Amino acid sequence: MAAQEKLIVALDLASADAAARLAERLRGHVGLFKVGPVIFTGEGPFLVRYLVAEGDKVFLDLKFHDIPNTVRAAAREAAAAGVAMFNVHATGGRKMMEAARAGAEEGARNGHGPLILAVTVLTSLGREDLDEIGAGTSPEEQAVRLARLAARAGLDGVVASPEEIAPIRRELGSAFQIVTPGIRPAGADANEQKRRATPAAAIQAGADYLVVGRPITEAPDPVAAADAIVREMEAALAPDLPAQAGSAGRVGQPLH
Ligand code: C5P
Repeated sequence: MAAQEKLIVALDLASADAAARLAERLRGHVGLFKVGPVIFTGEGPFLVRYLVAEGDKVFLDLKFHDIPNTVRAAAREAAAAGVAMFNVHATGGRKMMEAARAGAEEGARNGHGPLILAVTVLTSLGREDLDEIGAGTSPEEQAVRLARLAARAGLDGVVASPEEIAPIRRELGSAFQIVTPGIRPAGADANEQKRRATPAAAIQAGADYLVVGRPITEAPDPVAAADAIVREMEAALAPDLPAQAGSAGRVGQPLH
């Protein structure tokens, strides 16, 4: 798969209209567009329908977490809408994740169902945050544990932070899809992301897809920013090229 197809842009913009206009500019430069809960709650499913109708691949990032019957019905709707990927919280449990799989199969268009990903541990959470919610474990341990459960439930992969990529890959093998947010090119604003990596470092650690929001959407030239990230991913995917060595950064380390 080409590097460009592995880049997911988070369309976290103020309105569906602004998101659609940005998607038009980025079309052909990136692999997927992620539509999250803010635009979806504020403006409904129109942006998703528009993007799918234009032939774009959509990652519907609504992180379903409910009783299995409700998640099954929501998953059916997501698949019927033609999204390429959607996600559920692994903490909803194995039965809930199995219900998501069943619903997606029921709603699939022409037998092509979406990839279903489990959210393990949000990248904004640290050890103290997990203690507060009673998980009593490190983010890494919790992520691996939930990834294993997601695989057992028949999901395709996980959303995982940069430092969790390697342990999840080791534990679950190469077919399990790892989608990684918290990506910051060297020198970029970290925003509130506590665990982050450069595009090259995340690819080298074994991520299948990268989710990038503000470093692209808030760049003066979003197309140039996306192209630069794709070039960095390409260099990391071709490990013999010397270009990647200087730009990789270390997974989980502060970048500046
Ligand atoms: O702007 P930024 O690159 O930080 O955007 C990251 C995107 O990935 C946001 O849409 C955020 O909701 C999402 N995300 C995340 N951490 C997770 C799961 C999703 O940052 N664990």
